[in-house]
Amino acid sequence: MSTRIFARIFARIFDAWIAHGVLLFRDQKLDEPALVATSRGFGELELPPASESRTRGEGGGAVRPEVWIISNVVLDGRPIGSLGAGEAEWHSDMSYLEEPPSASLLWAREVPPAGGNTYYASMYAALEALPAGLRTRVAELRARHDSSYTSAGELRRGARPVSDPSAAPGAVHPVVRTHPVSGRKALYLGRRTNAYLEGLPLEESERLLDELWLRATRPELVWEHSWRAGDLVVWDNRCVLHRRDAFDPRARRVMLRTQVKGDRPC
Ligand code: OGA
Ligand code: MN
Repeated sequence: MSTRIFARIFARIFDAWIAHGVLLFRDQKLDEPALVATSRGFGELELPPASESRTRGEGGGAVRPEVWIISNVVLDGRPIGSLGAGEAEWHSDMSYLEEPPSASLLWAREVPPAGGNTYYASMYAALEALPAGLRTRVAELRARHDSSYTSAGELRRGARPVSDPSAAPGAVHPVVRTHPVSGRKALYLGRRTNAYLEGLPLEESERLLDELWLRATRPELVWEHSWRAGDLVVWDNRCVLHRRDAFDPRARRVMLRTQVKGDRPC
């Protein structure tokens, strides 16, 4: 395919991604270099979470630095990837960074016969569905995005357990952000665990966050994806949350993830 035709097709993929927030491509025959090359179409790549034990390839070989393995497979007593076989709570990837990733790409190499579904929720829709009073209130607020725990609830390497969310480490971002490409406003919540609304008494922050999370993850805002090997899903962390179901730990699930550099939420 000529470079020009490829660029035109890719421009349409990019527009669809901006318009819909999540794209699914089935039957993709990828490997690490192909996933990295595809991901670069969305921008310069970000490195995976540095605070987690470096994962390695299936045969114990080197993994490209941009690729993060998400897997429950244990090889020679060592997990080949992150997040295990348990549930992963609702989150936006790496929102504890000052400049969190825009896109995440997740490619399924091996999937379990059941379970491990991933769910996506539109934060444009979540913001639009807020009652007017609440919407006005949150427009002024900023939230701390705790960097201590993974979405699977594991303490990251080098992090200390958090007992007071208002003292947790991590970036502070506006609760309502304007998408830099679409210009639309979206709720930006990160993850619930140890989140904190700056300047509020902890109890009030907890109460308001509980209400926002309940509203933001209502079933009518959510798309559930049941994986097939070869699926590639691309989502936009600036306007979409995701979470994952648990699956049988005796089954194998091997996924490759990349992430694209984003900018400071505003
Ligand atoms: C991710 C993630 C969920 C899953 O790749 O960021 O949260 O389905 N993955 O493994
Ligand atoms: Mn994630």
